Amino acid sequence: MSKKLWGGRFTQPTDKFVEEFTASIGFEQRLYPYDIQGSKAHAQMLGRQGIITPAEAEQICTGLDQILADIEQGKIEFSVALEDIHMNIEARLIERIGSVGGKLHTGRSRNDQVAVDIRLYLRDELRAIIAYLEALKDSLLTQAEQNLDTIMPGYTHLQTAQPVLFAHHMLAYYEMFTRDVGRMRDCLQRMNVLPLGAGALAGTTFPIDREWVAQQLGFDGVTRNSLDSVSDRDFAIEFCAGAATIMMHLSRLSEELVLWSSADFNFIELSDSFCTGSSIMPQKKNPDVPELVRGKSGRVYGNLFSLLTLMKSLPLAYNKDMQEDKEPLFDSIDTVKGSLKIFAAMIAEMRVKTDNMRVAAARGFSTATDIADYCVRKGLPFRQAHEVVGKTVRYCIEQDKDIPELSLEEFRQFSALIDADIYDYVTLDASVNARTATGGTARCAVEREIALARQAQTKG
Ligand code: ARG
Repeated sequence: MSKKLWGGRFTQPTDKFVEEFTASIGFEQRLYPYDIQGSKAHAQMLGRQGIITPAEAEQICTGLDQILADIEQGKIEFSVALEDIHMNIEARLIERIGSVGGKLHTGRSRNDQVAVDIRLYLRDELRAIIAYLEALKDSLLTQAEQNLDTIMPGYTHLQTAQPVLFAHHMLAYYEMFTRDVGRMRDCLQRMNVLPLGAGALAGTTFPIDREWVAQQLGFDGVTRNSLDSVSDRDFAIEFCAGAATIMMHLSRLSEELVLWSSADFNFIELSDSFCTGSSIMPQKKNPDVPELVRGKSGRVYGNLFSLLTLMKSLPLAYNKDMQEDKEPLFDSIDTVKGSLKIFAAMIAEMRVKTDNMRVAAARGFSTATDIADYCVRKGLPFRQAHEVVGKTVRYCIEQDKDIPELSLEEFRQFSALIDADIYDYVTLDASVNARTATGGTARCAVEREIALARQAQTKG
């Protein structure tokens, strides 16, 4: 019978398959640096408080440092019999420094230990994800700066609506990812409190100093209720919800990149390094990366649902169910990080086919609203102006003409209010540049937003 750290009250060994089935070590090894970090702070606190001697605390910390180095050099093989990362490390410690290692777990439980480990880990990952989001935002901003004169068709219902600057389109995504950064920061701020000290569920009988440990580990404070401390996974759910929203945004951008790189749109070309060919059709260059990211949104939504369902109806406090929190959380972290990383590079290298965009923008009577606005400024109620332009468009379709190609006489068939200056309003550039209010697509309005975004970047 392999000796269990909790084996005292047992007479029979654990069934081999049950051991495998209940172990979490297979998927939580990545927590090792955080488990060690948390244990060191705990041991130092025990020493300071006289719960163990300062010499014992030092022995424990040195042992933990050596174990960290061994793991990093691949010298340690984790054991399923030791169930989880906490007991794997603790067992090594006892092996290495003897029975004094057994003092580390004083005033602590695996329930508050795992809670602190996940928070320390997620905190680092959140910071990394925020950095990747900022990198993607920077790529979008750079594309915007380079495309202040690129006019594309703006769509509603995927039907040509009004011309917009490609820069403006890029900045729409910039806004989405800015809100995503906000969500990640909120999550980081709310979760950054120390649960350690809750013990198994009720607190501890030892005179521990939670505030000191919190400070050592860079937490802003301590959790306020021991039952909640060991059974709260809100922070993981909150992160997974934010991650799902990021993937939703990426999937929208993906969809546009796939459309735009098709022969039918032909608005952009993605760099070869983000595409693959077809094994049968030699002409093909497939936008695999955006397609795959669009597809991966599914698993990240699923992970959010897994966690919500996992936590639903769980009685207080810790339940073994909660061990199932890790795989969905890790998967969302890995997927979002990977997707953001690849998108930041892909957007930076995307080639924009300015001329094709402009030709497409001129199709579909995209400046029709501008004629209506023109008539309104000459005193016609908007509804009547709408009617005038509707008839003008129908005429254009029948005559197979574009709006700017109509003669003044042709225009005036529909309203006597139309004068020769109409031609100043129906070009793509005039249409775009007329929309100058904050948030509009006029070049000057877009330039203002770019300047604000760059300012926000330098402020950090
Ligand atoms: N592996 C466990 C988890 O991930 C650690 C906590 C175990 N606690 C317990 N009482 N079995 O949730």
